[in-house]
Amino acid sequence: MYPWLDYGGRVSPLRLAVFVSLFLPALYVMAAFPLGWLGSRPVTEAIHQIGLWTIRFIFLALLITPARRLLNWPRLIDVRRMIGVAAFCYIVIHFTLYVADEAFDLREVASEIILRIYLTIGFVALLGLAVLAATSTDGMQRRMGARRWQRLHRIVYGIGVLALIHFFMQSKANVWEPLWMAGLFLWLMGWRLLDWLAPRGRGVPLWQVALLGVAATVLTGLGEGAYYAIVINAPLMRVLPTNFSLDIGVRPSWVVLGVSCVMLAAAALGKWRPVSGRPSPARNRASAARGA
Ligand code: HEM
Repeated sequence: MYPWLDYGGRVSPLRLAVFVSLFLPALYVMAAFPLGWLGSRPVTEAIHQIGLWTIRFIFLALLITPARRLLNWPRLIDVRRMIGVAAFCYIVIHFTLYVADEAFDLREVASEIILRIYLTIGFVALLGLAVLAATSTDGMQRRMGARRWQRLHRIVYGIGVLALIHFFMQSKANVWEPLWMAGLFLWLMGWRLLDWLAPRGRGVPLWQVALLGVAATVLTGLGEGAYYAIVINAPLMRVLPTNFSLDIGVRPSWVVLGVSCVMLAAAALGKWRPVSGRPSPARNRASAARGA
């Protein structure tokens, strides 16, 4: 079945828009390469850009469940698999570019993966994504049964952590994006915990979504301070106040606050908006069984 069709065989604008968008970063890198837009080390830059989009897609896939619940928009689940599979395709490109950068010397690649811990961590995450992609089809879902499938697919949380560590370790001095992504990850995990604690069918109350946003923002600010204190010995009391001004740009905590506010607005909207778009029947069965 074509990914832009829904289970009734009709073109779904949502699926089509997401499907096309997922290609854009890779197409940009492919076009930028011959045009010389990737700087003096184009392969390294391409590795970076594709790596960035891999982790962004992983996190976007993790955002789908809270977004569909908060927005009261069950059909959003239809695009989660597409985004997850895109993350896998991007990681394959990221890895292939790395192998090409090593002049396809597979012995060297293997020894680097064993000896350099950030590559080992990245490689384990890649294997995890491969497992998720291989079991992402409707057929595999049916064969495994909803419960086992759901249990297996929880490894995506571990993959998120490994991807973040890989990102932090190779970022060296500039950890702006890994820091805000770590804050977003806290929000994503916090929401899942609150959803699990909430009475069945009631969802996470608005005040808890608001509090979660504040907690993720504060922890991101503190995390940034702790990171620089540990890595470059910067006094905590010099780093923390930067969160209260724009003198050195938008801090990671502000990005987390922004995302949290958007999710809070989505939750407020979802409270009065009627349920929009049921998921496709097959998805509906699987979602109901696994409480996705
Ligand atoms: C799910 C798995 C992975 C994710 C999400 C991921 C993501 C990333 C990200 C976000 C970056 C940094 C981009 C930037 O700073 O602009 C990066 C860099 C890099 N990654 Fe990965 N990666 C993964 C797996 C791997 C694997 C398996 C390898 C190779 C064995 C690898 C090799 C590299 C290299 C060589 C760099 C650049 C390091 C440097 O320039 O110093 N990654 N990756």
